[in-house]
Amino acid sequence: MFIVGSSGAGKSTFLKLIMCEEKPNEGEIIVNNLRLTELKRHDVPYFRRTMGIVFQDFRLIDNMTVFENVAFAMHVVGASTKDIRKRVPYILGLVNLQDKEKCRPNELSGGEQQRVGLARALVNNPKLIIADEPTGNVDPALSFEIVDLLSEINRRGTTILMVTHEHSLVQHFHRRVVEIHDGAIVADTASREAPHED
Ligand SMILES: Nc1ncnc2c1ncn2[C@@H]1O[C@H](COP(=O)(O)OP(=O)(O)O)[C@@H](O)[C@H]1O
Ligand SMILES: [Mg+2]
Repeated sequence: MFIVGSSGAGKSTFLKLIMCEEKPNEGEIIVNNLRLTELKRHDVPYFRRTMGIVFQDFRLIDNMTVFENVAFAMHVVGASTKDIRKRVPYILGLVNLQDKEKCRPNELSGGEQQRVGLARALVNNPKLIIADEPTGNVDPALSFEIVDLLSEINRRGTTILMVTHEHSLVQHFHRRVVEIHDGAIVADTASREAPHED
């Protein structure tokens, strides 16, 4: 699902509410059957690990290789070295970075860095991926490639919430579009993509 709306409309706040980075003054937020308003403070990090988060500015660790950046996300959830060695190359293959495992972020293009960001978000197989303008720092051709990848991941059963300013992406991918204005939803257009079966 795409989330659109002018600057200051409340898109990032909406995503922050869903990842429990902000608390609402009133009302209720339920994510994957979990009432976030009742979530204890010390449970928040565990809750957040159930989702994949992709940042506009990538937020990779500069002194780690591509492999290590992705492996680290598995390490923090307690995955075994054996599982990490098996899973990371598979995920890097999925985002077409199998040849860049040993590179550091500063040796990659913006689009490649964002694909590392995507790999990191995907590696623990989350049910939900949240992306706040993930294509904001890559050029248009690469934006398209990144959303194409997200689209494929969505087809495999992962929910994706993505904020974007790029009308061309919204028009091309035919997904559900929610428009926010002044903190309220003003439009909600259903997906025109054929539903997937599995
Ligand atoms: N932590 C905060 N506390 C109070 N107001 C905030 C905070 N963060 C953002 N805002 C305000 O909330 C509104 C929505 O911001 P934001 O969600 O960042 O908009 P968008 O991502 O759509 O550009 C803006 O008016 C912004 O100034
Ligand atoms: Mg924002």
